[in-house]
Amino acid sequence: MKLLVATTNKHKLKEIRHILGVKVEGRKLNVKENGKTFEENAIKKARAGARKFKQLTIADDSGLMVNCLDGLPGVKSARFATPPTPKNLCQKLLRVMRRCRANRRAMFVCVIALARPDGRVRTFKGIVRGKIIEEMRGRHGFGYDPVFVPNGSKKTFAQMSPAFKNRISHRARALKMLKSYLWARSSVG
Ligand code: IMP
Repeated sequence: MKLLVATTNKHKLKEIRHILGVKVEGRKLNVKENGKTFEENAIKKARAGARKFKQLTIADDSGLMVNCLDGLPGVKSARFATPPTPKNLCQKLLRVMRRCRANRRAMFVCVIALARPDGRVRTFKGIVRGKIIEEMRGRHGFGYDPVFVPNGSKKTFAQMSPAFKNRISHRARALKMLKSYLWARSSVG
């Protein structure tokens, strides 16, 4: 089965390849991510890819939701700082969270949409809860990995090996559901 990934984010593509453990092709698409939810954006990207390339296509829309910021940066995670380098994103988050001393709770959310060329689509959602620490730690990963510590761990995502992050992450959880779905319907497409 051939699977395309509609993304411009090379870090996501690398993680998706590693987690799925099968060959997937990445395709860049110009899609405006103006949805109000991760589901809306993931569906938009996956449908655009499936229509354009006439192939089964997945897309990932993900982000960080911080409790004391009422869910922000959420769907705006990628554009929360300019330019959106990991350092700028993390530093801005730490700055706006100075008023959040008592409540550092946050969660990473990943929605994977699977679209067929005829427009039919399904979504799979993975969540990892944790907290935002007060400084950046670690050199692996991307985005907000240096400031996020998942529940049950003392390390940030950026301090974990990529292989370990890829076993427990929000993306791993969503892709695990996708894998089971595809396994159960191996005639899909
Ligand atoms: P989008 O899905 O293209 O809107 O981008 C999601 C943004 O959320 C990324 O650019 C990162 O800043 C952040 N993000 C999503 N998943 C992760 C992750 O696994 N680690 C760190 N940051 C992430």
